[in-house]
Amino acid sequence: MGSPGACFRCWNAITERKRSHLFMIKLALGLISLIFIFGMKNSIPVLKMVQSKYEVLLEKRIPPSGQPKQHTDRNSDVTLTARCSPKRHLMFLKTHKTGGTTVQNMLLRYVDSRNLTLATPPRGRVTFNEKFPFSANYVRDYNKQQYDVIAHHLRFKITQVKKVLKHNDTFYFSILRDPVNLMESSYSFFKKDFPAFRLSKSLEDLLNNSSSYYNPYLNTNTRVKNPTWFDFGYNNIANCSEEQYTKALVEIEKSFHLILISEYFDESMILLKEALCWDIDDVVTFKHNSRNKEDIKTVSENLARKIQEWNSLDWRLYNHFNVTFWAKVEETIGLARLQDEVAILREKRRELERQCTLDGLVVNQGRYFKEGLHLMSHKVKSDLDRDLKEKCKRYFIHPRDYTEILYTKQKLQK
Ligand SMILES: *[C@@H]1O[C@H](CO)[C@@H](O)[C@H](O)[C@H]1NC(C)=O
Ligand SMILES: *[C@@H]1O[C@H](CO)[C@@H](O)[C@H](O)[C@H]1NC(C)=O
Ligand SMILES: *[C@@H]1O[C@H](CO)[C@@H](O)[C@H](O)[C@H]1NC(C)=O
Ligand SMILES: *[C@@H]1O[C@H](CO)[C@@H](O)[C@H](O)[C@H]1NC(C)=O
Ligand SMILES: *[C@@H]1O[C@H](CO)[C@@H](O)[C@H](O)[C@H]1NC(C)=O
Ligand SMILES: *[C@@H]1O[C@H](CO)[C@@H](O)[C@H](O)[C@H]1NC(C)=O
Repeated sequence: MGSPGACFRCWNAITERKRSHLFMIKLALGLISLIFIFGMKNSIPVLKMVQSKYEVLLEKRIPPSGQPKQHTDRNSDVTLTARCSPKRHLMFLKTHKTGGTTVQNMLLRYVDSRNLTLATPPRGRVTFNEKFPFSANYVRDYNKQQYDVIAHHLRFKITQVKKVLKHNDTFYFSILRDPVNLMESSYSFFKKDFPAFRLSKSLEDLLNNSSSYYNPYLNTNTRVKNPTWFDFGYNNIANCSEEQYTKALVEIEKSFHLILISEYFDESMILLKEALCWDIDDVVTFKHNSRNKEDIKTVSENLARKIQEWNSLDWRLYNHFNVTFWAKVEETIGLARLQDEVAILREKRRELERQCTLDGLVVNQGRYFKEGLHLMSHKVKSDLDRDLKEKCKRYFIHPRDYTEILYTKQKLQK
C-alpha cells in the first residue's frame, strides 16, 4: 500500500466519473484482501487478535452452562457451529504439590451443583490408598456401580479406574508442575513426613549427599524423587531406559486427554473449560494450601540444576507436556483469545472475592493448620445472606469436609 499522502494527491487529480469507478475497484480489492486476510489469520498474530475479539463476541451468544451450546469451529473460516455439551464424566489425576487441591475444589463444586456422583475415599480420608496402584475396591462402599467423577489422590492404574468410571466418554486430565518449584514446596510441606527430608538439614544438603539420607525402598520416601512419575503409576526410583521412558510417555498420552501446567494455572483453566465445553464461571478458583511468601525459599540456579537431575524423569515429563500444552493452545483457541479469557477469568475472581471475602489473606489457623507452615486463605464475610454465604463457603472449604458433605448428599439421593 502507498503512503496516504500519495494516494490523496492522485485522488484529487481524477474526475468524478473515474472516482466512482475507482471506488468500486477499491471496494472489490478490499473484499478480496479481507478474504485473503481471514485465510491467513492463523499465521498473523495481529489478525488473530481481531479474530479473537470476533470470537469472544460470538461466545457471548452461547446459552448458559448446563445446556448444549454452540462452539465456533476454529479450523474453519466460516463460523461453522458444532454442538458440544458439557462433559460430566471426569477422571482428574490429582498430583501432589501441583495446585491439585485448587482444581479438586472446582470439581467438587461442579459435582455438587450438577448432582453428579463422586467416587470417594474411605471416611475421614482425603486420598485413596496410595501405597499401591489404584484398585476399584479403594472406593468407599464400592459395589461395582458406576460413578461420574474421581478427583482424589490415587496412584494411577487405568484398568481399575475404568471399573469405577464406566462411562465411555470419561475425560482424563491431570496437572504438572515444574519439578524445581515442586520439590521446594514438597520439602517444606513434608519436612516432617518423609525420612529423607527430615534427616537432611536442607534441600541442598539432601541433594549433595543423598546416599546418606535417602533410602528409596522406604515406603515413606516414595515422593522424594520423581513424585509425579510415581503418581502416574510408574516406577520412580529404578533407572529407566530410554525405551521404558518412551513407552510410559506414549501410555500417558493415550490415557489422558489433557495435561495442565501449574505455572500457567489460569491459562490451564481456560484450556480446560474449552475442552470440557464448560462455562467460564465453572472454572473460577481460589488457591488452596498456598504458603505465606516468607515460607517460600528462593532456589539458586545451581540448586535448580541439582533438583532437575535428581528428578530427571519428572523434568522430562514436565518439559514434554509444557510443549504440548502450548501446542494445544495454538490448535484450539489461539494465544490472543487465551489472553482475553484469562483476563476475564481474573476479573471474575476479583469480583467473587469482593462479594464473598473479607479483605486480604489470613493465616489459616483452623484445625487443618500444618505445623510450622503458614497456609494462607480467605475468610468468608459473616454478614452475607444465607444462600450467598453457602455458595461462598464452598470455594474455601477443606476437601475432607467437602468430600463428607458430597458423600452424605449422594447417599440421600439414592
Ligand atoms: C439437584 O438435586 C436437588 C435436590 O434433589 C434439586 O433440587 C436440584 O434441582 C438438582 N439440580 C440439578 C442441576 O439437577
Ligand atoms: C457410549 O455409550 C453410549 C451409551 O451409554 C452409547 O450410546 C454410545 O454408542 C457409546 N459410544 C461409544 C463410542 O462407544
Ligand atoms: C553442596 O555442595 C556444593 C559443592 O558441590 C557446595 O558448594 C555447597 O556448599 C554444598 N551445600 C551444602 C548445604 O552442603
Ligand atoms: C555426607 O554425609 C556423611 C554422613 O553424614 C558425611 O560423612 C559426609 O562427609 C557427607 N558428605 C558431604 C559431601 O557432605
Ligand atoms: C542406577 O544407575 C546408577 C549408575 O549406573 C547406579 O549407581 C544405581 O545404583 C542405579 N540405581 C538403581 C535403583 O538401580
Ligand atoms: C514452558 O513453555 C513456555 C512457552 O513455550 C516457555 O516460555 C517456558 O520457558 C517453558 N518452561 C520450562 C520450564 O521449560
